[in-house]
Amino acid sequence: MKNILVTGGAGYIGSHTSIELLEGGYNVICVDNFSNSSKDIFDVIHDLTGKHVTWYEADVCDVEALRKIVKAHDIDCVIHFAGYKAVGESVEKPLMYYQNNIDSTLALCEVCLENSINNIVFSSSATVYGAPQYLPLDEHHSLSATNPYGNCKLFIEHILKDVHVAHPEMNIALLRYFNPVGAHPSHRLGESPKGIPNNLMPYICQTASGLREQLSIFGDDYDTVDGTGVRDYIHVVDLAKGHAAAIKKLATAPGCVVYNLGTGNGTSVLELVRTFITENNVDVPFAIAPRRAGDIAECWADPASAKEELGWEAQYTIVDMVRDSWEAQKRMNTNEKVTVASEAV
Ligand code: UFG
Repeated sequence: MKNILVTGGAGYIGSHTSIELLEGGYNVICVDNFSNSSKDIFDVIHDLTGKHVTWYEADVCDVEALRKIVKAHDIDCVIHFAGYKAVGESVEKPLMYYQNNIDSTLALCEVCLENSINNIVFSSSATVYGAPQYLPLDEHHSLSATNPYGNCKLFIEHILKDVHVAHPEMNIALLRYFNPVGAHPSHRLGESPKGIPNNLMPYICQTASGLREQLSIFGDDYDTVDGTGVRDYIHVVDLAKGHAAAIKKLATAPGCVVYNLGTGNGTSVLELVRTFITENNVDVPFAIAPRRAGDIAECWADPASAKEELGWEAQYTIVDMVRDSWEAQKRMNTNEKVTVASEAV
């Protein structure tokens, strides 16, 4: 494996994974339509690694564009990150989600099959487990989804499994992420959602920055350690390393494999907020609010398969996660001020 096509490579997880791949000696060819990301990320990646990502501005749904990109490079493996990812928006605009997230996967599979690209890593999610029947969640847990975003992840897993059945030479790794947070230790890239953040960590960061008045903690009456929701937060650099490990696994032609990428530890909302406040020595005003519709009480991974079969294990702690998220946020705040200042001039 040498040449890796990364769809959505300018995004949060895609950019961190691109760094990991470049540092591992791979060539990274990225296709992104920049609908939720910026081209500037490639300069940052070059500064950090001394290596270039070859990138194309194109929609992954565009089969012709994909064909041209694939013909220009001898692609060995595809990592498919591109897709819409906001749960709430998916409920409001289901067709947009199904059209974009499913069509792009079909286009990618078609081009892979045409060009004998026999390795695909898919960016799946723990959302495919639905409400946990038991914890920790292992890969054998039953699958279900409760919103169009989750349905897309689940359908795409089914599509890729079916592709493998019809084309046994196609190796596929379905990576089910738990809750990605944190930022590159340089703090030069991180998560910067457009508009009001849906996820907890970006909301905490923006509240600590003063961009949001107060964090709402959605429910303190769950049957959990302190009544607030419990999740398995995983540092984005650990997640990126999980992709590099998955590529090595695919090189052994394992067929269709599924791995949880989580730490195996649950952290409550209150625990995360308090750790953020203490470790970063910053205030995060918060108030308890009603439960958010569709939320589950607790969810954490059994990451044993990834450890046994990929030799991968999460290394970063919750303290690392809150520190890196906050440092990257502070840097983003400064950069935004710089941009605004230069526009005013
Ligand atoms: N939460 C708050 N306040 C907020 C935001 C979140 O209290 O402002 C709480 C939630 O209620 C939950 C926890 O923080 O208990 C984590 O919420 P996130 O929105 O950060 O993450 P979720 O676990 O709801 O969702 C994440 C991803 C989804 C994915 C899902 C399951 O965002 O894409 O995990 O893997 F589908």
